[in-house]
Amino acid sequence: MESAAPPAEHLGADYFQHPLAYFSRMREERPVTPVTLPHGDRVWLVTRYADVRAALADPRLHKDWAGKLTGPDWVPDEVTGYLAVHMLNSDPPDHTRLRKLVTKAFTARRVAGLRPRVEAITGSLLDAIEARAAAGEDTVDLIGAFAFPLPVTVICELLGVPARDQAQFRQWSNAIVASEGEPGSFRAAGEAMYYYFTELIAAKRARPADDMVSALIEARDSGDSLDERELMAMLWLLLIAGHETTTNLIASGTLALLTNPAELDRLRSDPSLLPGAVEELLRYANPLNHATDRFTLEPVEIGGVTIPAREWVLCVTSSANRDPDRFGDPDRLDVRRDAGGHVAFGHGIHYCLGAPLARLEGEVAFGALLARFPALSLAADPATLRWRPSSLIHGLETLPVRLR
Ligand code: HEM
Repeated sequence: MESAAPPAEHLGADYFQHPLAYFSRMREERPVTPVTLPHGDRVWLVTRYADVRAALADPRLHKDWAGKLTGPDWVPDEVTGYLAVHMLNSDPPDHTRLRKLVTKAFTARRVAGLRPRVEAITGSLLDAIEARAAAGEDTVDLIGAFAFPLPVTVICELLGVPARDQAQFRQWSNAIVASEGEPGSFRAAGEAMYYYFTELIAAKRARPADDMVSALIEARDSGDSLDERELMAMLWLLLIAGHETTTNLIASGTLALLTNPAELDRLRSDPSLLPGAVEELLRYANPLNHATDRFTLEPVEIGGVTIPAREWVLCVTSSANRDPDRFGDPDRLDVRRDAGGHVAFGHGIHYCLGAPLARLEGEVAFGALLARFPALSLAADPATLRWRPSSLIHGLETLPVRLR
Protein backbone atom coordinates (compact mmCIF):
# COMPACT_ATOMS: atom_id res chain seq x y z
CA MET A 1 0.00 0.00 0.00
CA GLU A 2 1.29 3.48 -0.84
CA SER A 3 1.96 5.70 2.15
CA ALA A 4 -0.24 8.81 2.21
CA ALA A 5 1.49 12.10 1.39
CA PRO A 6 1.90 14.28 4.49
CA PRO A 7 -0.70 17.02 4.97
CA ALA A 8 0.13 20.27 3.21
CA GLU A 9 0.45 23.37 5.39
CA HIS A 10 -1.49 26.31 3.99
CA LEU A 11 0.58 29.46 3.69
CA GLY A 12 -1.54 32.48 4.55
CA ALA A 13 -1.43 35.85 2.78
CA ASP A 14 1.15 37.11 5.31
CA TYR A 15 3.58 34.62 3.73
CA PHE A 16 4.44 37.24 1.11
CA GLN A 17 5.31 39.75 3.83
CA HIS A 18 7.43 37.39 5.97
CA PRO A 19 8.55 34.43 3.85
CA LEU A 20 11.82 33.92 5.76
CA ALA A 21 9.92 33.38 9.03
CA TYR A 22 8.05 30.49 7.37
CA PHE A 23 11.22 29.06 5.83
CA SER A 24 13.28 29.12 9.02
CA ARG A 25 10.62 27.05 10.77
CA MET A 26 10.39 24.62 7.83
CA ARG A 27 14.19 24.20 7.66
CA GLU A 28 14.07 23.03 11.26
CA GLU A 29 10.90 20.98 11.30
CA ARG A 30 10.01 19.80 7.77
CA PRO A 31 12.81 20.66 5.32
CA VAL A 32 11.12 18.91 2.38
CA THR A 33 7.40 19.44 2.68
CA PRO A 34 4.18 19.95 0.73
CA VAL A 35 2.37 23.27 1.21
CA THR A 36 -0.46 25.15 -0.43
CA LEU A 37 0.54 28.64 -1.53
CA PRO A 38 -1.72 31.58 -0.61
CA HIS A 39 -3.48 31.41 -4.00
CA GLY A 40 -4.13 27.68 -3.58
CA ASP A 41 -1.52 25.85 -5.68
CA ARG A 42 -0.08 22.79 -3.99
CA VAL A 43 3.72 22.54 -4.20
CA TRP A 44 6.62 20.88 -2.41
CA LEU A 45 9.17 23.19 -0.79
CA VAL A 46 12.83 22.25 -0.33
CA THR A 47 14.39 24.63 2.21
CA ARG A 48 17.85 23.40 3.35
CA TYR A 49 21.02 24.53 1.55
CA ALA A 50 22.42 21.05 0.84
CA ASP A 51 19.05 19.77 -0.44
CA VAL A 52 18.44 22.87 -2.58
CA ARG A 53 21.83 22.55 -4.29
CA ALA A 54 21.36 18.85 -4.88
CA ALA A 55 17.80 19.33 -6.18
CA LEU A 56 18.79 22.16 -8.56
CA ALA A 57 21.36 19.84 -10.17
CA ASP A 58 19.06 16.78 -10.23
CA PRO A 59 17.93 15.83 -13.77
CA ARG A 60 14.94 13.98 -12.28
CA LEU A 61 13.44 17.39 -11.50
CA HIS A 62 12.13 18.45 -14.89
CA LYS A 63 11.17 21.83 -16.28
CA ASP A 64 9.46 21.03 -19.55
CA TRP A 65 5.92 20.55 -18.26
CA ALA A 66 4.36 21.17 -21.68
CA GLY A 67 5.93 18.07 -23.13
CA LYS A 68 5.80 15.82 -20.11
CA LEU A 69 2.97 16.60 -17.71
CA THR A 70 0.34 17.15 -20.37
CA GLY A 71 -1.47 14.40 -22.26
CA PRO A 72 -0.40 13.46 -25.78
CA ASP A 73 -3.41 15.29 -27.28
CA TRP A 74 -2.67 18.59 -25.57
CA VAL A 75 -2.09 21.42 -28.02
CA PRO A 76 -1.24 24.83 -26.57
CA ASP A 77 -2.99 27.89 -27.91
CA GLU A 78 -0.76 30.46 -29.57
CA VAL A 79 -0.09 32.57 -26.47
CA THR A 80 0.47 29.71 -23.99
CA GLY A 81 2.57 28.05 -26.65
CA TYR A 82 5.02 30.91 -26.82
CA LEU A 83 5.01 31.62 -23.08
CA ALA A 84 6.09 28.03 -22.49
CA VAL A 85 9.00 27.43 -24.86
CA HIS A 86 11.93 29.35 -23.38
CA MET A 87 15.15 27.90 -21.94
CA LEU A 88 13.99 28.19 -18.34
CA ASN A 89 11.08 25.90 -19.17
CA SER A 90 13.17 23.41 -21.15
CA ASP A 91 15.19 20.31 -20.45
CA PRO A 92 18.16 19.13 -22.53
CA PRO A 93 18.56 18.91 -25.46
CA ASP A 94 16.23 21.91 -26.13
CA HIS A 95 17.65 23.78 -23.15
CA THR A 96 21.21 23.33 -24.39
CA ARG A 97 20.32 24.52 -27.89
CA LEU A 98 18.38 27.59 -26.73
CA ARG A 99 20.92 28.68 -24.12
CA LYS A 100 23.81 28.32 -26.55
CA LEU A 101 22.25 30.91 -28.85
CA VAL A 102 22.71 33.70 -26.30
CA THR A 103 25.53 32.48 -24.04
CA LYS A 104 28.21 34.54 -25.77
CA ALA A 105 26.40 37.82 -25.25
CA PHE A 106 26.35 37.30 -21.48
CA THR A 107 29.87 36.10 -20.70
CA ALA A 108 31.77 38.02 -18.01
CA ARG A 109 34.11 39.45 -20.65
CA ARG A 110 31.35 40.69 -22.98
CA VAL A 111 29.43 42.12 -20.06
CA ALA A 112 32.51 43.97 -18.75
CA GLY A 113 32.38 45.96 -21.99
CA LEU A 114 28.96 47.28 -20.97
CA ARG A 115 30.33 48.96 -17.83
CA PRO A 116 30.71 52.47 -19.32
CA ARG A 117 27.13 52.39 -20.60
CA VAL A 118 25.77 51.05 -17.27
CA GLU A 119 27.67 53.84 -15.49
CA ALA A 120 26.28 56.46 -17.86
CA ILE A 121 22.66 55.30 -17.40
CA THR A 122 23.20 55.18 -13.64
CA GLY A 123 24.68 58.67 -13.66
CA SER A 124 21.81 60.18 -15.61
CA LEU A 125 19.19 58.56 -13.34
CA LEU A 126 20.99 59.90 -10.29
CA ASP A 127 21.20 63.35 -11.96
CA ALA A 128 17.43 63.29 -12.36
CA ILE A 129 16.97 62.34 -8.69
CA GLU A 130 19.35 65.09 -7.64
CA ALA A 131 17.41 67.60 -9.73
CA ARG A 132 14.23 66.58 -7.91
CA ALA A 133 16.00 67.08 -4.60
CA ALA A 134 17.23 70.50 -5.72
CA ALA A 135 13.64 71.40 -6.63
CA GLY A 136 12.62 70.73 -3.04
CA GLU A 137 11.56 67.08 -3.21
CA ASP A 138 13.24 65.46 -0.22
CA THR A 139 11.72 62.01 -0.57
CA VAL A 140 11.59 59.75 -3.62
CA ASP A 141 10.54 56.18 -4.33
CA LEU A 142 13.91 54.63 -5.09
CA ILE A 143 12.31 51.82 -7.10
CA GLY A 144 10.45 54.10 -9.52
CA ALA A 145 13.35 56.53 -9.82
CA PHE A 146 16.32 54.18 -9.93
CA ALA A 147 16.07 50.46 -9.12
CA PHE A 148 13.57 49.75 -11.92
CA PRO A 149 14.72 52.07 -14.75
CA LEU A 150 18.41 51.13 -14.49
CA PRO A 151 18.20 47.40 -15.30
CA VAL A 152 15.24 47.75 -17.65
CA THR A 153 17.08 50.40 -19.69
CA VAL A 154 20.20 48.21 -19.85
CA ILE A 155 18.34 45.10 -21.00
CA CYS A 156 16.22 47.08 -23.49
CA GLU A 157 19.37 48.54 -25.06
CA LEU A 158 21.03 45.14 -25.21
CA LEU A 159 18.03 43.54 -26.86
CA GLY A 160 17.15 46.49 -29.08
CA VAL A 161 13.73 47.06 -27.53
CA PRO A 162 12.62 50.71 -27.34
CA ALA A 163 13.29 51.89 -23.78
CA ARG A 164 10.34 54.31 -24.09
CA ASP A 165 8.02 51.30 -23.65
CA GLN A 166 9.43 50.44 -20.24
CA ALA A 167 6.38 51.59 -18.20
CA GLN A 168 4.40 49.07 -20.20
CA PHE A 169 6.91 46.29 -19.43
CA ARG A 170 6.72 47.06 -15.74
CA GLN A 171 2.97 46.56 -15.79
CA TRP A 172 3.15 43.36 -17.85
CA SER A 173 5.93 41.80 -15.89
CA ASN A 174 4.25 42.65 -12.58
CA ALA A 175 1.16 40.81 -13.81
CA ILE A 176 3.20 37.86 -15.07
CA VAL A 177 5.12 37.24 -11.83
CA ALA A 178 2.24 38.12 -9.46
CA SER A 179 0.69 35.21 -7.61
CA GLU A 180 -2.40 37.19 -6.74
CA GLY A 181 -3.98 39.68 -9.02
CA GLU A 182 -7.01 40.43 -11.09
CA PRO A 183 -8.36 37.21 -12.61
CA GLY A 184 -7.00 36.88 -16.12
CA SER A 185 -4.28 39.49 -15.68
CA PHE A 186 -1.50 36.95 -16.34
CA ARG A 187 -3.10 35.95 -19.59
CA ALA A 188 -3.86 39.52 -20.62
CA ALA A 189 -0.23 40.52 -20.00
CA GLY A 190 1.01 37.44 -21.87
CA GLU A 191 -1.21 38.33 -24.83
CA ALA A 192 -0.15 41.98 -24.81
CA MET A 193 3.53 40.97 -24.83
CA TYR A 194 2.84 38.52 -27.61
CA TYR A 195 1.38 41.23 -29.83
CA TYR A 196 4.12 43.65 -28.85
CA PHE A 197 6.88 41.21 -29.82
CA THR A 198 5.09 40.17 -33.03
CA GLU A 199 5.24 43.79 -34.18
CA LEU A 200 8.78 44.32 -32.96
CA ILE A 201 10.04 41.21 -34.77
CA ALA A 202 8.32 42.30 -38.00
CA ALA A 203 9.88 45.76 -37.71
CA LYS A 204 13.38 44.38 -37.03
CA ARG A 205 13.04 41.85 -39.81
CA ALA A 206 12.36 44.72 -42.18
CA ARG A 207 15.18 46.89 -40.76
CA PRO A 208 17.80 44.86 -38.86
CA ALA A 209 19.95 46.72 -36.33
CA ASP A 210 23.05 45.91 -34.29
CA ASP A 211 21.16 44.36 -31.39
CA MET A 212 20.19 41.00 -29.95
CA VAL A 213 16.66 40.91 -31.37
CA SER A 214 18.10 41.27 -34.89
CA ALA A 215 20.81 38.67 -34.17
CA LEU A 216 18.21 36.17 -32.96
CA ILE A 217 16.00 36.83 -35.99
CA GLU A 218 19.04 36.18 -38.17
CA ALA A 219 19.68 32.90 -36.29
CA ARG A 220 16.04 31.98 -36.73
CA ASP A 221 15.91 32.81 -40.44
CA SER A 222 19.25 31.36 -41.46
CA GLY A 223 18.94 27.90 -39.97
CA ASP A 224 16.78 25.60 -37.96
CA SER A 225 18.22 26.45 -34.55
CA LEU A 226 15.10 28.16 -33.26
CA ASP A 227 11.51 28.48 -34.41
CA GLU A 228 9.29 31.56 -34.36
CA ARG A 229 7.63 30.73 -31.01
CA GLU A 230 11.02 30.07 -29.42
CA LEU A 231 12.29 33.39 -30.74
CA MET A 232 9.37 35.19 -29.10
CA ALA A 233 9.78 33.22 -25.86
CA MET A 234 13.49 34.01 -25.72
CA LEU A 235 12.79 37.73 -26.01
CA TRP A 236 10.19 37.89 -23.29
CA LEU A 237 12.30 35.71 -20.96
CA LEU A 238 15.36 37.93 -21.42
CA LEU A 239 13.34 41.08 -20.98
CA ILE A 240 11.64 39.94 -17.78
CA ALA A 241 14.56 38.01 -16.25
CA GLY A 242 16.82 40.90 -17.20
CA HIS A 243 15.12 43.46 -15.00
CA GLU A 244 12.69 41.97 -12.43
CA THR A 245 15.39 40.46 -10.27
CA THR A 246 18.03 43.17 -10.56
CA THR A 247 15.46 45.82 -9.61
CA ASN A 248 14.93 43.92 -6.39
CA LEU A 249 18.64 43.39 -5.75
CA ILE A 250 19.11 47.18 -5.89
CA ALA A 251 16.00 48.02 -3.84
CA SER A 252 16.14 45.28 -1.20
CA GLY A 253 19.93 45.61 -1.03
CA THR A 254 19.59 49.34 -0.33
CA LEU A 255 16.99 48.60 2.35
CA ALA A 256 19.35 46.06 3.93
CA LEU A 257 22.18 48.61 4.02
CA LEU A 258 20.01 51.44 5.35
CA THR A 259 18.75 49.23 8.17
CA ASN A 260 22.29 48.06 9.02
CA PRO A 261 24.11 51.39 9.42
CA ALA A 262 27.40 49.89 10.65
CA GLU A 263 27.65 47.79 7.46
CA LEU A 264 26.65 50.78 5.36
CA ASP A 265 29.42 52.89 6.95
CA ARG A 266 31.92 50.12 6.39
CA LEU A 267 31.04 49.96 2.70
CA ARG A 268 31.08 53.74 2.29
CA SER A 269 34.50 54.02 3.85
CA ASP A 270 36.01 51.18 1.79
CA PRO A 271 34.52 50.89 -1.73
CA SER A 272 36.90 47.99 -2.44
CA LEU A 273 34.40 45.94 -0.43
CA LEU A 274 31.75 46.49 -3.15
CA PRO A 275 32.07 43.25 -5.17
CA GLY A 276 31.95 41.13 -2.00
CA ALA A 277 29.12 43.26 -0.60
CA VAL A 278 27.05 42.59 -3.75
CA GLU A 279 27.47 38.83 -3.14
CA GLU A 280 26.43 39.26 0.49
CA LEU A 281 23.41 41.36 -0.52
CA LEU A 282 22.41 38.68 -3.03
CA ARG A 283 22.63 36.10 -0.24
CA TYR A 284 20.93 38.20 2.41
CA ALA A 285 18.27 40.02 0.37
CA ASN A 286 17.71 37.31 -2.25
CA PRO A 287 15.57 38.89 -5.01
CA LEU A 288 13.70 35.59 -5.51
CA ASN A 289 12.03 33.53 -2.82
CA HIS A 290 12.72 30.35 -4.75
CA ALA A 291 13.93 29.07 -8.11
CA THR A 292 11.36 28.53 -10.85
CA ASP A 293 9.05 25.49 -11.07
CA ARG A 294 10.33 21.95 -11.36
CA PHE A 295 8.33 18.72 -11.68
CA THR A 296 8.79 15.08 -10.77
CA LEU A 297 7.82 12.41 -13.28
CA GLU A 298 8.78 9.56 -10.95
CA PRO A 299 9.13 9.41 -7.14
CA VAL A 300 12.27 11.36 -6.18
CA GLU A 301 13.97 11.24 -2.80
CA ILE A 302 15.36 14.50 -1.50
CA GLY A 303 16.83 14.86 1.98
CA GLY A 304 15.37 11.51 3.04
CA VAL A 305 11.82 12.41 1.93
CA THR A 306 10.19 10.83 -1.11
CA ILE A 307 8.32 13.26 -3.33
CA PRO A 308 5.79 11.31 -5.40
CA ALA A 309 5.56 11.42 -9.20
CA ARG A 310 3.84 14.37 -10.93
CA GLU A 311 4.46 16.85 -8.15
CA TRP A 312 5.49 20.47 -8.41
CA VAL A 313 8.75 21.26 -6.56
CA LEU A 314 10.17 24.65 -5.54
CA CYS A 315 13.80 24.93 -4.41
CA VAL A 316 13.76 27.75 -1.88
CA THR A 317 17.01 29.55 -2.60
CA SER A 318 16.32 32.40 -0.16
CA SER A 319 16.00 29.83 2.63
CA ALA A 320 19.15 27.97 1.54
CA ASN A 321 21.04 31.25 1.74
CA ARG A 322 19.98 31.63 5.38
CA ASP A 323 20.77 28.03 6.38
CA PRO A 324 22.95 28.09 9.52
CA ASP A 325 24.52 24.79 8.43
CA ARG A 326 26.10 26.66 5.49
CA PHE A 327 26.46 30.31 6.55
CA GLY A 328 27.45 31.24 10.12
CA ASP A 329 25.09 33.72 11.81
CA PRO A 330 23.03 33.74 8.57
CA ASP A 331 20.55 36.44 9.55
CA ARG A 332 23.32 39.01 10.04
CA LEU A 333 24.30 41.22 7.11
CA ASP A 334 28.10 41.28 6.93
CA VAL A 335 29.59 43.03 3.92
CA ARG A 336 33.00 41.49 4.69
CA ARG A 337 31.63 37.94 4.73
CA ASP A 338 32.71 35.43 2.09
CA ALA A 339 29.22 34.79 0.68
CA GLY A 340 30.59 32.62 -2.16
CA GLY A 341 28.51 29.53 -2.80
CA HIS A 342 25.19 31.36 -2.26
CA VAL A 343 22.42 30.12 -4.53
CA ALA A 344 20.74 33.45 -5.36
CA PHE A 345 21.56 32.75 -9.03
CA GLY A 346 20.54 29.10 -8.80
CA HIS A 347 22.80 26.14 -9.54
CA GLY A 348 23.23 23.51 -12.25
CA ILE A 349 22.34 23.87 -15.93
CA HIS A 350 19.85 26.71 -15.40
CA TYR A 351 22.35 28.79 -13.38
CA CYS A 352 21.51 32.42 -14.12
CA LEU A 353 22.66 33.40 -17.59
CA GLY A 354 22.62 37.07 -16.57
CA ALA A 355 24.69 36.72 -13.37
CA PRO A 356 27.68 38.73 -14.70
CA LEU A 357 25.35 41.50 -15.86
CA ALA A 358 23.43 41.54 -12.56
CA ARG A 359 26.69 41.72 -10.60
CA LEU A 360 27.95 44.58 -12.75
CA GLU A 361 24.68 46.50 -12.38
CA GLY A 362 24.64 45.91 -8.62
CA GLU A 363 28.20 47.08 -8.19
CA VAL A 364 27.73 50.23 -10.28
CA ALA A 365 24.33 51.03 -8.72
CA PHE A 366 25.32 50.67 -5.05
CA GLY A 367 28.66 52.40 -5.58
CA ALA A 368 27.18 55.42 -7.36
CA LEU A 369 24.10 55.74 -5.15
CA LEU A 370 26.08 55.78 -1.91
CA ALA A 371 28.67 58.18 -3.31
CA ARG A 372 26.06 60.61 -4.68
CA PHE A 373 23.81 60.74 -1.60
CA PRO A 374 25.95 60.54 1.55
CA ALA A 375 22.93 61.26 3.77
CA LEU A 376 20.58 58.76 2.13
CA SER A 377 18.11 57.33 4.67
CA LEU A 378 14.82 55.49 4.84
CA ALA A 379 11.73 57.71 4.72
CA ALA A 380 9.41 55.05 6.18
CA ASP A 381 9.33 52.74 9.14
CA PRO A 382 10.73 49.47 7.67
CA ALA A 383 7.89 47.55 9.33
CA THR A 384 5.38 49.41 7.13
CA LEU A 385 7.06 48.54 3.82
CA ARG A 386 5.01 46.13 1.69
CA TRP A 387 6.38 43.22 -0.34
CA ARG A 388 4.77 42.32 -3.65
CA PRO A 389 2.30 39.41 -3.55
CA SER A 390 4.45 37.11 -5.69
CA SER A 391 5.52 33.62 -4.78
CA LEU A 392 8.58 33.82 -7.03
CA ILE A 393 9.77 37.41 -6.62
CA HIS A 394 10.69 38.86 -3.25
CA GLY A 395 10.52 42.56 -3.97
CA LEU A 396 9.25 45.73 -2.33
CA GLU A 397 6.30 47.61 -3.78
CA THR A 398 7.97 50.95 -3.08
CA LEU A 399 11.08 52.14 -1.21
CA PRO A 400 10.68 55.73 0.00
CA VAL A 401 14.07 57.29 0.76
CA ARG A 402 15.13 60.70 2.05
CA LEU A 403 17.94 62.20 0.02
CA ARG A 404 19.46 64.63 2.53
C1 HEM B 1 20.09 39.99 -9.19
C2 HEM B 1 19.64 39.64 -10.35
C3 HEM B 1 19.28 38.24 -10.76
C4 HEM B 1 18.97 37.15 -9.99
C5 HEM B 1 18.90 37.06 -8.47
C6 HEM B 1 18.69 36.06 -10.90
C7 HEM B 1 18.35 34.78 -10.51
C8 HEM B 1 18.21 33.70 -11.36
C9 HEM B 1 17.98 32.34 -10.94
C10 HEM B 1 17.83 31.87 -9.50
C11 HEM B 1 17.92 31.58 -12.06
C12 HEM B 1 17.71 30.06 -12.12
C13 HEM B 1 16.26 29.72 -11.99
C14 HEM B 1 16.00 28.24 -11.86
O1 HEM B 1 16.92 27.39 -11.92
O2 HEM B 1 14.83 27.91 -11.68
C15 HEM B 1 18.08 32.45 -13.19
C16 HEM B 1 18.05 32.04 -14.51
C17 HEM B 1 18.12 32.91 -15.56
N1 HEM B 1 18.40 34.27 -15.51
FE1 HEM B 1 18.73 35.37 -13.86
N2 HEM B 1 18.82 36.49 -12.18
C18 HEM B 1 19.20 37.82 -12.15
C19 HEM B 1 19.46 38.65 -13.23
C20 HEM B 1 19.38 38.27 -14.53
C21 HEM B 1 19.68 39.14 -15.66
C22 HEM B 1 20.19 40.57 -15.58
C23 HEM B 1 19.43 38.42 -16.77
C24 HEM B 1 19.65 38.96 -18.16
C25 HEM B 1 19.16 38.55 -19.22
C26 HEM B 1 18.98 37.09 -16.37
C27 HEM B 1 18.61 36.05 -17.20
C28 HEM B 1 18.38 34.76 -16.79
C29 HEM B 1 18.07 33.68 -17.71
C30 HEM B 1 17.93 33.78 -19.23
C31 HEM B 1 17.91 32.53 -16.94
C32 HEM B 1 17.56 31.11 -17.45
C33 HEM B 1 18.82 30.32 -17.61
C34 HEM B 1 18.58 28.88 -18.03
O3 HEM B 1 17.44 28.39 -18.01
O4 HEM B 1 19.56 28.22 -18.44
N3 HEM B 1 18.97 37.04 -15.00
N4 HEM B 1 18.28 33.74 -12.75
